Amino acid sequence: MAFTVKNNIRWVGKQDWELREFHGSEYSTHRGSSYNSYLVKEEKIALIDTVWAPYAEEFVANLAKEIDLGAIDYIIANHGEIDHSGALPALMARIPDTPIYCTANGAKSLRGHYHQDWNFRIVKTGDSLDLGNGKQLVFVEMPMLHWPDSMATYLTGDAVLFSNDAFGQHYASSQMFNDLCDPVELQEECIKYYANILTPFSPLVTQKIHEVLALNLPIDMIATSHGIIWRDKPTQIVEQYLKWADNYQENQITLVYDTMWNGTRMMAEAIAEGIRKADRDVVIKLFNLSNTDKNDVLTHVFRSKAILVGSPTVNNVMLPHVAALLEEMTGLRFKNKAAAAFGTHGWSGGAVERITKRLDDAGFRVLNPGITAEWRPTDDALAQGVSFGEAFIEQLGKTGQNTAGDLATCADSGKMRCQTCSWTYDPQQGEATQGVAAGTAWQDVAETFLCPVCFMGKSDFVPA
Ligand code: FEO
Repeated sequence: MAFTVKNNIRWVGKQDWELREFHGSEYSTHRGSSYNSYLVKEEKIALIDTVWAPYAEEFVANLAKEIDLGAIDYIIANHGEIDHSGALPALMARIPDTPIYCTANGAKSLRGHYHQDWNFRIVKTGDSLDLGNGKQLVFVEMPMLHWPDSMATYLTGDAVLFSNDAFGQHYASSQMFNDLCDPVELQEECIKYYANILTPFSPLVTQKIHEVLALNLPIDMIATSHGIIWRDKPTQIVEQYLKWADNYQENQITLVYDTMWNGTRMMAEAIAEGIRKADRDVVIKLFNLSNTDKNDVLTHVFRSKAILVGSPTVNNVMLPHVAALLEEMTGLRFKNKAAAAFGTHGWSGGAVERITKRLDDAGFRVLNPGITAEWRPTDDALAQGVSFGEAFIEQLGKTGQNTAGDLATCADSGKMRCQTCSWTYDPQQGEATQGVAAGTAWQDVAETFLCPVCFMGKSDFVPA
């Protein structure tokens, strides 16, 4: 279903209505997805991104109906991940000498995937490519949003930003423009995408958006590589990203748990009752991890100001669904969220202590040592659960929020280690490539500072 996006820009991608799992089985796609590829037909012809490998032959066949493949002058690979580059082998088999414009890391990832030495042309931020008719493609590197190779491409004249993964959603839609599709579905898919994919890179999101906004480029459309194209007030999603990247939370508390014989569920409900007694305004959500989609739960964690995580003790440890969620939350590096653990046990405990430790490791502000009930909770144990919920609200009110400022103060003048790659900032040496002079204390380093190895932001650093 090729269609015109604007003037000489044609969408030539693939709607994947059947997709229910993405990144292997890592990300649920209840509403399918799309792999958006764009053909820009000016005096010169450029193809921006392709589609996932299973649709490679279909993609190339459809593309050949749009254009003589030999007439394509340039291929732009904004990102090497195979959902966008997967049709390159099939396409390059037909037009092997066509230049592929990508970042240096893009060439690395494409070589890594396909082991082909195609005609790569390396671009950096600000480089441009003339398409004729007064239009140019301008490249903007977007390292770690969400791969080191990521970039966006801006088409002057039409003022369209081809943003690749950024601002996208896993959402198959016949409408394909934000003003035509269901706004509730769109919002749900956007926040899920941000929460599950982009959360760890929030400091970079903020920095990169401000960098792009400072260029004062007119933006008439944002053409993503997944889901719909933003043409009605396109910068609304940019503003939304700035909010999500800024320690986002809503007035919500989420309880997630697994349960064997319902004891932990009973404790979850008792704690929720206590929370409700203490705060009638807060939204409370309960999820049994064994029967709820993990990515939906993580989206609710992202929206919450606090979470409670529960498990019965089995062989001195927690149930595996709970352990898996804690591992995933550690990687997502949620900020500015409080937490506590709860559970049940028979002849020996262990789960609550382990959950508490893992919540702390994952960067949550743990408010107390948690609560566990023996065997099937008695009425007394459930009453204690209610009291625990009430006390949790009181503790939450007292603790305030972690801020970047607090973290900077904690770190003060010592060495600081990047949690992602372990590169260490040494104030004695500074960081010359970003103009940070030797002798600069961490608290005086600009908030826009990035780890020179993995590009994570300042808030990702901890005392070394
Ligand atoms: Fe849609 Fe990072 O690939």
